[in-house]
Amino acid sequence: MLAPTPTLTRAAELMQLEDQYGAHNYHPLPVVLSRGRGVHLWDVAGRQYFDFLSAYSAVNQGHCHPRIIAALTEQAQQLTLTSRAFFNDRLGPAEKQLCELFGYDKALLMNSGAEAVETAIKLARKWGYQEKGIAPNQARIVVAEHNFHGRTTGIISFSTDPDSTGSFGPFVPGYQVVPYDDAEALAAALADPHVCGFLVEPIQGEAGVVVPREGYLTRAAELCRQYNVLLITDEIQTGLGRTGKLLATDYEEVRGDILILGKALSGGVLPVSAVLADDVVMLAIRPGQHGSTFGGNPLACAVMQAALDVLLDEKLVDNAYRLGEIFRAEMRALQHECPNVVTLVRGRGLLNAVVIKPAADGRTAWDVCVRLMERGLLAKPTHGDIIRFAPPLVITEGELRTACALIADVIRAF
Ligand SMILES: Cc1ncc(COP(=O)(O)O)c(C=O)c1O
Repeated sequence: MLAPTPTLTRAAELMQLEDQYGAHNYHPLPVVLSRGRGVHLWDVAGRQYFDFLSAYSAVNQGHCHPRIIAALTEQAQQLTLTSRAFFNDRLGPAEKQLCELFGYDKALLMNSGAEAVETAIKLARKWGYQEKGIAPNQARIVVAEHNFHGRTTGIISFSTDPDSTGSFGPFVPGYQVVPYDDAEALAAALADPHVCGFLVEPIQGEAGVVVPREGYLTRAAELCRQYNVLLITDEIQTGLGRTGKLLATDYEEVRGDILILGKALSGGVLPVSAVLADDVVMLAIRPGQHGSTFGGNPLACAVMQAALDVLLDEKLVDNAYRLGEIFRAEMRALQHECPNVVTLVRGRGLLNAVVIKPAADGRTAWDVCVRLMERGLLAKPTHGDIIRFAPPLVITEGELRTACALIADVIRAF
């Protein structure tokens, strides 16, 4: 007689469905989530978790923030999409809010982060030909080693991560990679008169929250000015309060000539991204030369405005700064106590990384994350031995300290 088929739990059933019918382009932790509010997520069995990933920093304002959801539902009943073939009553006010908040002449709204990066690259090239006088098709963009700017074929053309590039060629020419946090190498690259832009993350998030030495961004901005090159700051992950300042470049009072935002621009509700620049750059692109059907749609604009209001009204930037200090102090105490497990703690604001030394029996940062999940905290390893801890910025000190105690328990037992 055949053995009876064991009944799958609801969670196992849902994971099996994704495995069978979905592409295998991610390797998720085995937890199936069905609800979120503030810093918390709940799985299909009703178990509560602290979210210490925040959808890769898209949920800075916390899950399902009532003000953002109210803006979404209200606008959803009025008008969702017209395309840019016509004006709509939400785009202008949204662009004005963005420009005034960040201090630029103009904004161009897109959807995903990668699209905004592609937009910035096109703007820089066009500016390079029209304003810098670079010969046709000769424009070059300098980027940093270990960068992460997205997944399009254009963007992976300058990735140095073999997982991003392997068997996806041929690649787009016109990029030069320099080591991150190395001003001398940057100076040498920018001296090439064909260079129109330097594209950089102020802190490299996906590479493992790599914070450059103080003064690097200032020097990079000086070099860009010296060589008439646009500084393009990708703040898709680091921007909007995540690092304890509105922008991570604010730590050095550096201003990108092109600023790229995404993720938390919608509080994790819709894909909304933006590129900001002054007229001399933005007006290089003329009607018909760039666009996106959904970019700047009324629903996205309403959500974005509410998401920015929440960020400012709830003083989430200051909260991220203050609680970030507490988090790193707690983690450094833990490193001191468990130097055989925690080898490094780094970050700014609430974008932090803890580097885990693999155990002799082969257990890694992944196993730490599984343990954390079992204890009710969700985080994900990046690049093998690094765990990124990035809770929503609405987290309270009490919640943060509870989460730190939980992390400490798991690390001590590792
Ligand atoms: C710095 C940076 N740029 C660009 C992107 C790409 O954004 P998206 O996944 O929305 O395309 C990311 C995503 O993690 C990022 O961290």
